[in-house]
Amino acid sequence: MILPSPLSVGNGHLHIGGHDTVELAERFGTPLYVTSEDRIRENFHRFAGALRNHYQKVQVLYAAKANGNLAVFKILASMGAGADVFSAGEVALALAAGMRPELLLFNGSSKTSADLALAVEKGIRVSVDSLDELRQLDRVAGAAGKTIDIAFRVNPAINVPTHPKIATGLATSKFGIPAGEILDVYREALALEHVNPAGIHCHIGSQILAVEPFAREVEVLIDVAGDLIDIGVNLSFIDIGGGLGIPYQRETDRAPAPKEYAGAVMPVFLRGIKELGIEPELWVEPGRWLVADSTILLTRVNSVKIAHKAFANVDAGFNLLVRPTMYDSYHEVVAANRADAPAVREYSVTGPICETGDILAKDRMLPELAAGDLIAVLDAGAYGFAMSSQYNSRPRSAEVLLAGKEAALMRRAETVDDLTAAMVTPPWQE
Ligand code: LLP
Repeated sequence: MILPSPLSVGNGHLHIGGHDTVELAERFGTPLYVTSEDRIRENFHRFAGALRNHYQKVQVLYAAKANGNLAVFKILASMGAGADVFSAGEVALALAAGMRPELLLFNGSSKTSADLALAVEKGIRVSVDSLDELRQLDRVAGAAGKTIDIAFRVNPAINVPTHPKIATGLATSKFGIPAGEILDVYREALALEHVNPAGIHCHIGSQILAVEPFAREVEVLIDVAGDLIDIGVNLSFIDIGGGLGIPYQRETDRAPAPKEYAGAVMPVFLRGIKELGIEPELWVEPGRWLVADSTILLTRVNSVKIAHKAFANVDAGFNLLVRPTMYDSYHEVVAANRADAPAVREYSVTGPICETGDILAKDRMLPELAAGDLIAVLDAGAYGFAMSSQYNSRPRSAEVLLAGKEAALMRRAETVDDLTAAMVTPPWQE
């Protein structure tokens, strides 16, 4: 098995960032998310560096939804990242981490008037997703006596090779304004007093393992930019979103590295802006690529059952990692305390949730397993804890952050009291 860079095997145990996972599980308990800060830093350098080799004016906006821990935001903030934010909660986290408001973009197709007012108050640019939203935002900004910089989210009608639930730039997707109607909305924005169209925004989907769709996306945006300049829009940024995938199946997936991504996207972008005679900032919104392989989910085998097939029943299920259930996603699993034992039997690694679909990994060759063994689920740093729930009234797990030799909680495990903390007794039940 090919292990991603923060992982290694020593003394028969899986290590992450040089830490023995067996010791981490003993010290902090399971289930447990473990994240390598060093790996996030390395990923950021590689991603931003690959693009900046072509063009200096690149700004990375971390897609906050991928991993919402404040400690993760702080790592990325310290490296100069801004954030793609989708909610008041993500705004609060980004600002708490020290990200500057002008490095945030408030995205989303369904914002409340409170969201719009928050963006206006904090001076956060908004990616406007409809004409209706544009008019609302102009009113909100007007009421606050301010003018706000905006982009429109363009729907480029591009098919991408990924799971249909995470393709966002299809003509039928709920996101964005069709490229054919985009000029009209910019025209209207130019005529309004409290919004200033300053950018273009697009995001075509997630976990994309080809670079051509991104190059096509940039072509569409450059075309749109040309039209916008003709009608008098002063473009200060073009935001091409995120979406670069990672090789969850390292033996078979061919995943383009950031260098290849930049090699496909940047020539189109640079040629385009040169012809247009503009030098806007290029914004990118990677989520998965920055954080996915920084993190593993450690889960303990509760019991083994050899029935029609072999099951390793573990203490984490789709309450903690929903991707396999939701998108049939593949995550590599490793027997962390027997990492160099031969794989002898096919197991399904199944969680404690009361649903048949609660399978973290299906039919995987693993060493002979027994109760008490430790399983590591790899590449769990993006859309892992972030999409967790308390389903079946299971408190969420802790998250540990590693940096060099240090290991510390970045989130404590919830308790049963946390489950009821927000519940209120209706007066007639008092
Ligand atoms: N920008 C926007 C506007 C987005 O909607 C997203 C992801 C990103 C950037 C970051 O995309 P990334 O670089 O991470 O691919 N829960 C799914 C993924 C949903 C992605 C939603 N939007 C999963 O677990 O695969």
